[in-house]
Amino acid sequence: KQKILIDTDPGVDDAMAIFFACVHPDIDVVGMTGVFGNVTVDIAARNAIVLAERAEQDIPVARGADVPLVQTPNPVSDYVHGEQGFGDIPAQPTRAEILDETAAEFICRLINENPGEISLCPIGPLTNIALALQLDPTIAQKVKNVVIMGGSLREGGNVTAHAEANIWNDPHAADAVFAADWPVVMVGLDVTHRVICTPADFSELAKAAPKLGGFLQDASHFYIRFYEEVVGITGCYLHDPAAVIATLRPELFTIENHPIEVKVDGEEIGKTAISTNPERRAMQICTGIQAETVKELFMDTIKSGF
Ligand code: BDR
Ligand code: CA
Repeated sequence: KQKILIDTDPGVDDAMAIFFACVHPDIDVVGMTGVFGNVTVDIAARNAIVLAERAEQDIPVARGADVPLVQTPNPVSDYVHGEQGFGDIPAQPTRAEILDETAAEFICRLINENPGEISLCPIGPLTNIALALQLDPTIAQKVKNVVIMGGSLREGGNVTAHAEANIWNDPHAADAVFAADWPVVMVGLDVTHRVICTPADFSELAKAAPKLGGFLQDASHFYIRFYEEVVGITGCYLHDPAAVIATLRPELFTIENHPIEVKVDGEEIGKTAISTNPERRAMQICTGIQAETVKELFMDTIKSGF
């Protein structure tokens, strides 16, 4: 089984990614860490516990950063995911056990205890990951890989013309993560914009797996309304699930190798651009996706749940 640590700001598509990881037989979700982004960090950590409980898994959850490393926080995206993260539906865990460690401490401990085995899968702003690197730079040599939902190479942004939301919410952290000497895979808008989950798909999920699919269907209404009104599509993109899927099945993606740097100020703040700095190592950038197979894998996996 692939051990995955998910850093998250749940979030409707985060919930889709987390349920996928929880249900898939080849994935072991060894921990989750909450970060501000779609919601505040307190709601993020709470929502991660809610999702683990729904999926009937005992996953340790740590609370992470409540603000970006340097910049003034952007407003939370409650107009996209709802004030509490799951659209209109309320979410309260029955047991609220959060680890005493910070997210950065927990990330470092897990990687140190499982050298070479952990895939770190950040699906929110990269603040916790940058803080973990600051705390213990040796994790760079011990992690298996870091598979990030974020950024865009040629697709433009989704919050501004240039920036994707996770990078835009903490560009300094993203740049530190991209500058470090570890194997990073960027699963950005170039590929996540190729896969859409429609209301009919959510109905199918709810029918086959009432507890998990039903939750996703209920949570998706608000999110899909946003996509209809603002983006003009009927359905939502499979952003965060794509990163978990790329961790498990990298062969479903076309990869280009480029060093990337993040614009940390000016009009293009949050843009992920090819770097000419010779000291930057190349990262793996997903630029193509076998969209039908990825969608099918997502659907079949959730449907195999309960
Ligand atoms: C990313 O931003 C968040 O709103 C989503 O959960 C996803 O992680 C997409 O740009
Ligand atoms: Ca997210």
